[in-house]
Amino acid sequence: MSAGGADTRTFRDVAGLLAGGVAIVTMEAKGEVRAMTANAVASLSLDPMLMLFCPAKKSRFSGYLADMRQFTLNFLREEQEQLSSYFAGGWRQSAPPPFRFVPSQAGPRLEGSLASMGCEVERVSEGGDHWIVTGRVITMHRGVEPYRPLVFFAGKYRSIDVSAGSPAPDLTQVLDEPPHVFYPH
Ligand SMILES: Cc1cc2nc3c(=O)[nH]c(=O)nc-3n(C[C@H](O)[C@H](O)[C@H](O)COP(=O)(O)O)c2cc1C
Repeated sequence: MSAGGADTRTFRDVAGLLAGGVAIVTMEAKGEVRAMTANAVASLSLDPMLMLFCPAKKSRFSGYLADMRQFTLNFLREEQEQLSSYFAGGWRQSAPPPFRFVPSQAGPRLEGSLASMGCEVERVSEGGDHWIVTGRVITMHRGVEPYRPLVFFAGKYRSIDVSAGSPAPDLTQVLDEPPHVFYPH
């Protein structure tokens, strides 16, 4: 399928060049825990504290959105790659990888993840063939160190060297003068 000269294959490939973390979204619906792997996850607002994730409209998970009042975003560690594949429905072995859900203020949370954010559903909005689920953060949990995230980039799981890196600017010290932008003629 194409839209204005861009095809969906190219869209997937180019969008995949934006590296990101991987989360398992957990919730309880009709007395059962539901979980889904997602990388369309973002922090949206600081005041109020809002997070968002985007489940495909055709996913089974989306079938429970009408009853969902709370959800938890569980950020995965690099060694939790198997859980990402398992909760994406891509697990081909008979025995599931080991995992455990533990109760928290916002429903079940995945034990052992890098960090978790429990949210109350604020809004479900249209996003093409996905829903945009916005949640107000009501509880946060930081796992034990070391913090080594699972990264999804160009269709593959990766890990990063967290010992390297350079500091991002301190945005509490923003200059009044905007940056100068030059366009080539
Ligand atoms: C790394 C990774 C990231 C994913 N991110 C999303 C996402 O953000 N939104 C989504 O709808 N599906 C995403 N998926 C696919 C879903 O996890 C998959 O379709 C899942 O099986 C849906 O489950 P359900 O239909 O049982 O609810 C992702 C899969 C992987 C492996």
